[in-house]
Amino acid sequence: MKTFYWKAGEAGALEAAAEILKKGGLVAMPTETVYGLAANALDGNAARKIFAAKGRPVDNPLIVHISDMKQIDLLAAKIPEQVSRLAKAFWPGPLTLLLPKKACVPDEVTGGLPTVGIRFPSHPVAQRLIELAGVPLAAPSANLSGHPSPSTAEHVWHDFFGRIDGILDGGPCQIGVESTVLNLSEQPPRLLRPGGVTLEQLQAVLGTVEVDPAITQPLAEGKQAPSPGMKYKHYSPLANVTLVRAASPDFCRFVNMHRADGVAALCFDEEKEELLIPCLAYGSASDSWAQARRLFEALREVDDSMHAKQVYVHCPPSTVGMGLAVYNRLIRAAGFEVIDLD
Ligand code: TXA
Ligand code: MG
Repeated sequence: MKTFYWKAGEAGALEAAAEILKKGGLVAMPTETVYGLAANALDGNAARKIFAAKGRPVDNPLIVHISDMKQIDLLAAKIPEQVSRLAKAFWPGPLTLLLPKKACVPDEVTGGLPTVGIRFPSHPVAQRLIELAGVPLAAPSANLSGHPSPSTAEHVWHDFFGRIDGILDGGPCQIGVESTVLNLSEQPPRLLRPGGVTLEQLQAVLGTVEVDPAITQPLAEGKQAPSPGMKYKHYSPLANVTLVRAASPDFCRFVNMHRADGVAALCFDEEKEELLIPCLAYGSASDSWAQARRLFEALREVDDSMHAKQVYVHCPPSTVGMGLAVYNRLIRAAGFEVIDLD
């Protein structure tokens, strides 16, 4: 398959991408969180192509992206009053709301679930593309299923060249991890995935927010995942990832003791000089927003430039604010393999 590549600023690029979407094709688009692999959300056949291209399990639902608040009425059967308060505070932006779906949303998009995930992205290219396509766009992260999410167009190119119709390059994503997923189809609202809007920000608007235990813990045997995405291993490079919970000097000592062929480390900026093995820094220890921005790229580099077989990752020191999203992605990338030196 021919894959078109456009710089998002190029004359006619968005129009050409929108034409492909109208015909049922797949286009990767930049958003403020990560790149999304977009298709017409009201076309079940187009949605099926997303699952095929990603190798994604068909029960894992897609997020539907809108560019106008009025499109919620098209998609959601019941809209609790919290939606307007959340939209006022966080939309356009990195928040996905799960609401009871209307019949026009194909089962392919929701993985057969009765709810639909809706997000109004703030990235101007994503907004304009939705407008030009004239329909909401279903878009999961534009990575092969299980791989780290893409925070640049190069990452998308790496995973999908020859497998999708086009890639719109809007430069690196600002946030770097995916949107926050909040289930509003039950009360109190439940956080299913931490992301670009923090738990504390949600609590400030809503009061009580339940935090699903699967955000930080493995699913109990036989228990159904509240969000299908939670039951799959995620964000993983090919290398084996081990999360190391430790104070900085202990982490450095541990890693240096494990110096061997194929062993690498993801550390914080402040630790880089201390390490005697191949290492990459993914932000300052005290800046979880910087960590979020760097994280997926660093996980990709572990394979693509370090060719590591084993990578020890220094666990973020705090799960407050954006720290919860960073911890959630890492614990999943590690398949819950944690060494605790604290
Ligand atoms: O930031 C983002 O959210 C990016 C950009 C492209 O917008 N998209 C994204 O999509 O991360 P994806 O498909 O990689 O992750 C969506 C997550 C999955 O874990 C999925 O299981 C969950 O949201 N989800 C979506 N709709 C759901 C629903 N109706 N019920 C439960 N979970 C749902
Ligand atoms: Mg994803």
